[in-house]
Amino acid sequence: MILIGQRLAIKPMTEEDIPAVRTIELDVFPTPWPSNAYHRELRANRSAHYSCLWRDAEIAAYSGLWSVGEEAHVTTIGVRRGDQGHGLGKVMFAHLVNQSYALGANFMSLEVRPTNEPAIHLYETFGFKVLGRRRGYYTDNGEDAMVMWSDLIHAPRFKARFLEIAKDLGVEGLGELPEPGWPRI
Ligand SMILES: CC(C)(COP(=O)(O)OP(=O)(O)OC[C@H]1O[C@@H](n2cnc3c(N)ncnc32)[C@H](O)[C@@H]1OP(=O)(O)O)[C@@H](O)C(=O)NCCC(=O)NCCS
Repeated sequence: MILIGQRLAIKPMTEEDIPAVRTIELDVFPTPWPSNAYHRELRANRSAHYSCLWRDAEIAAYSGLWSVGEEAHVTTIGVRRGDQGHGLGKVMFAHLVNQSYALGANFMSLEVRPTNEPAIHLYETFGFKVLGRRRGYYTDNGEDAMVMWSDLIHAPRFKARFLEIAKDLGVEGLGELPEPGWPRI
């Protein structure tokens, strides 16, 4: 796999990481968050979980989710432009799914532009499905958002697919993977 030979590590995002994250964000998102948004999220939102993927000494990707009851809602995922298409998005999304298990979620959700084929493809790879639409959600062009949901993340089929993807990643900081099959009560 393409990631072999690279030193990749996932770590919680800190406020010192925000300038590097913003540089990526400004480059890859049509509507980047305002600069204080990440500071506010890291300082004040106890439901928020943000992470950075380090390649050697540089941040190459980042992700975020909100844990709200049984739902883990993906708020962002971004890969540095020059690093896109080499599997890092898959690593970060696997991390988001694994975090959702660790946080005790049952379902995951996210919004995506219907025109964002790489992202939709990535989410479908993990078994996400389009279950809704938010009209005029994106403020730059009034585009609708598609709302994608996972199945119950503990369902054996969803989990088996996730474990199949995650087992080969070999990334430091991904965390302990869930046991296959239904959770033991
Ligand atoms: C969406 C994004 C996170 C994907 O990360 P990435 O590192 O480029 O994706 P990966 O290389 O891990 O590829 C993941 C899957 O998407 C596919 N993919 C990658 N680029 C693609 C493209 N341009 N078109 C179609 N599929 C694509 C890959 O083939 C791979 O599928 P596979 O395993 O079946 O081969 C990244 O492109 C990005 O940061 N985009 C800008 C920000 C953004 O749109 N974020 C999502 C908002 S909802």
